[in-house]
Amino acid sequence: MELLGIDIGGSGIKGALVNAETGEMLTDRFRIPTPKSRKPEAMAEVIKQIVDHFDYEGPVGCGFPTIVKNGVCMSPGNLDESWVGVNIDELFTAATGHEFTVVNDADAAGYASMNYGVGKGKEGLVIMITIGTGLGSGAFFNGKLLPNFELGQIPYKGYKKIELWAAASAKERENLSFEKWGKRFNKFLKLVETIVAPDLIIIGGGTSKKWKEFNHLIDIETDVVKAELMNHAGIIGAAVACLREHHHGHLS
Ligand code: BGC
Repeated sequence: MELLGIDIGGSGIKGALVNAETGEMLTDRFRIPTPKSRKPEAMAEVIKQIVDHFDYEGPVGCGFPTIVKNGVCMSPGNLDESWVGVNIDELFTAATGHEFTVVNDADAAGYASMNYGVGKGKEGLVIMITIGTGLGSGAFFNGKLLPNFELGQIPYKGYKKIELWAAASAKERENLSFEKWGKRFNKFLKLVETIVAPDLIIIGGGTSKKWKEFNHLIDIETDVVKAELMNHAGIIGAAVACLREHHHGHLS
């Protein structure tokens, strides 16, 4: 089944048509920068432009960079505070006329990897970490999603949340080399390992494209692998989540 998947991030909003049964991307990725305000109306307008670009009829799956419960935004993440409490499904449906299924972005990326990527068939606790504007996390136990894990929110060294110190946006803001930033990221992974003792960690998000530049700095006990769907995992996972929710009524 061909579905439109959209991945919303702090710096870009990306979409593509996906075969939600095989996890294959059927078109090129179409990307529009996230509006600077990061406010609901401005972002809904970009969603409309992306949907229109594909000349597509049908439901849309969408990964969203905050805690999402039943389609409602529950935390600001790195977006504008005014998102909290907004029913994202309804807002995007009103803007586009399409039915939307919205889930957390890292949960969506993990979902793609667990179904079609390196996580396929992996038992135990698998944690997907996405590196972008924030640090996202998706947790799967024996293949089943535990929604809205928020490992990037751990307070660290006077920072309100560790993602402010160790995400890609911190690297950019402080102009850090991969060597310097990679050490921070490894520290984050060490904390994750201490807190949840995963069996496998999968690295996705925009910065996973640069895996070769920092993977030598990762030094923890747990196996750490790159999501081979890389930053497409968010788009593919969003489409897959949409298919599953339509057919089973919930994300499993
Ligand atoms: C949010 C998460 C999100 C992550 C990556 C964080 O700021 O709290 O919900 O998954 O950014 O976008």
